[in-house]
Amino acid sequence: MRKATARAGSNIAFIKYWGAADPALNLPLNGSISMTLAHVHTTTTVEWAPRGERPVDTIVLNGLPLAPAQAERLVAHLDRIRALAGVDHRARVVSVNNFPTGAGIASSASGFAALTVAACRALDLDLSPTQLSALARRGSGSACRSLFGGFVEWRQGSSDADSVAAPLFPPDHWELWDLVAVVDRQEKPVSSAQGHRLAHTSPLLEGRLRQVDGWLAQVREAIAQRDIHSLGTVAELDALAMHSVMMTSTPSLLYWQPGTVAVLHAARAWRAQGIPVYFTIDAGPNVHLLCPADQVSALRERLASVPGVEQVIASGPGPGPQLLDAHLF
Ligand code: PMV
Repeated sequence: MRKATARAGSNIAFIKYWGAADPALNLPLNGSISMTLAHVHTTTTVEWAPRGERPVDTIVLNGLPLAPAQAERLVAHLDRIRALAGVDHRARVVSVNNFPTGAGIASSASGFAALTVAACRALDLDLSPTQLSALARRGSGSACRSLFGGFVEWRQGSSDADSVAAPLFPPDHWELWDLVAVVDRQEKPVSSAQGHRLAHTSPLLEGRLRQVDGWLAQVREAIAQRDIHSLGTVAELDALAMHSVMMTSTPSLLYWQPGTVAVLHAARAWRAQGIPVYFTIDAGPNVHLLCPADQVSALRERLASVPGVEQVIASGPGPGPQLLDAHLF
C-alpha cells in the first residue's frame, strides 16, 4: 500500500488554450503561455489500496465525497495511471483547494496536476516532468502547464508525447500578480471540455488562430523584458478574441455577467489614470487583473468598490508541484 501527497498551483494563461484538435487526447488548436500561481493551489493525497481490497476508487473533494457521476473524470485519470503502471489497485483520494470552494475559480489545472504527481509517486512510477505534463494534459489541458513553476509555455505539438509544457522563466524572474475579481460563484453552465469542442462552430475561430503565433512571440518577449504593457495589451486582446469565439459558437457561450463588464471598464479607467493593470478572463465570469506586485494593495482597495465584486483572490508566481510529507489522511 503506497501513499503520496502533492501540492500544485493553478495557473493563469496570457495566451489561452481554446479549442481541441483532438478532444480525446486534449491536443490543442494552439499553443498557450501561463504563469503558475503561488497562492492558489490544490493539495492531494492518493493512497493505493492492496490489490482486491477496495472495489472502487473513493474521492473526497473539499470534504465532500464525490458521487460516481462527479468522480468519472478523475476515475478515468486514475485508469490512465493504472494502465501505465500495469496495476489494477483502487485508490483513496482526498483533495483540498486552498481557495474558497465554489468561488468560481477553476481548479482543474491545479487539481489534475496534483492528482497526477501524487498518484504516480504513490505507485513509484518514475516519470519525467515532461511525461507528467503529458499525462496531466489528458485530465485537463491547462493542467499540463501546472507541472512547472513560474512562466510556462505549452507547445501545441501534434501527439500525446510532444504536446507538453516547458518552463520559460522561473517564478522569481518577475513579481507579476494576478488579482481575481470574483463576481459570480456559480458553477459554470458549460464546462471548458464542452467548450473546446464547440470552438469549431465559431466563424471567428480561424481569425484568432491566425493571430496566435504572433501573440505568443510577443508574450515570450514581454515576459523576458518584464514589460507589463506589452504583455497586458496582448493578453487582453487574446482574452477578448477567445470570448468572441465563445460567444459566436453554436450554441453561444456567454460567460460574462454584469460584474464582469464593470471590472473590465474599471481596469481601463484605472489604466487611463496611469495604473499598470490589464485584464484576462478564463471560461467563466470572473476577471483576472494582471499587475506588478507594488500595485496589489491599491488595486484590492479599488476593486472592493466596483459593483458586483464579491471577493478578491491574489497571487504572485509560484513553484511547480511539491511533494509533501504531511498527508491529508
Ligand atoms: O484545461 P481546460 O480544459 O479547463 O481549459 C482551459 C481553458 C481556459 O482556462 C479558458 C484557457 C487556458 O488556457 O487556461
